[in-house]
Amino acid sequence: MTVNDTALANRFALAKTLAAEAGAMALDYFNRRETLVIETKRDLQDVVSIADRNVETFLKERVAEIYATDGFLGEEFGHDEGSSGFTWVVDPIDGTAPFVNGMPTWCVSVAIVRDGEPVVGVIHVPCSDELYASAHGLGATLNDKPLRLDPARNLQNALTGVGCNSYVTPERFGAIITDLMQRGGNFIRNGSGALMLAYVAAGRLVGYYEPYMRAWDCMAGFCLVREAGGVTQPFPATGPALLEGHPVLAANRSSFEELLAIHMKHV
Ligand code: IPD
Ligand code: CA
Ligand code: CA
Repeated sequence: MTVNDTALANRFALAKTLAAEAGAMALDYFNRRETLVIETKRDLQDVVSIADRNVETFLKERVAEIYATDGFLGEEFGHDEGSSGFTWVVDPIDGTAPFVNGMPTWCVSVAIVRDGEPVVGVIHVPCSDELYASAHGLGATLNDKPLRLDPARNLQNALTGVGCNSYVTPERFGAIITDLMQRGGNFIRNGSGALMLAYVAAGRLVGYYEPYMRAWDCMAGFCLVREAGGVTQPFPATGPALLEGHPVLAANRSSFEELLAIHMKHV
């Protein structure tokens, strides 16, 4: 093992431990969610609570204790640049809308980015007790079972995950759904883009498309999909671009080009 491999393997192990611990913490809040004060951010559909903030703080403090020179980007508290070359990119709760409304489709998403590429992607889904884990060159697993995508599945014979937020007009999103359905496809949305990307890696969905997402929503899922043998659209993640929104597209090899064509038609 080279020094680089060891640095990655050690961080991968920590990411799995922390995602599991953060998931347990988030689940405790979920089970007493009627006591949470729900606040809104950009609009009335963009919600947050102390659960999101405290889970992110927990992750940030634990990473800093062990890797003080690693960078850290989280949805709730922004970006601290590091000097080690590794940046942790974390969404403490992806799927906050399902979370506060009492639905189980939310997750903790932990990625590590190096040179603008996700090299670790771990997603913990407390309500279904699932841990999706991947690292560059080491494959992807779901509860320790290897994931490998099936090329026989495509937009026509499987489900495609989609998502949108208020950065995207209703007209544009409607046209995307129309296009997908005209091609014989069908869509599903469960309120967590990170979790739907993990479902792509697990072969439950054939692809995922959302016109505008942030790095904390998709980096872990991208690593999982790639390591399971799928394809992801390049997502700019160096310098200031790491903090900006970009299209998110991931699919198995048989579906990627068709999903990309839908995206390109409605940019
Ligand atoms: C959101 C979810 C949703 C997606 C939004 C995201 P949040 O993240 O992933 O599925 O459509 O674009 O912002 O707010 O639940 O962390
Ligand atoms: Ca998110
Ligand atoms: Ca979030």
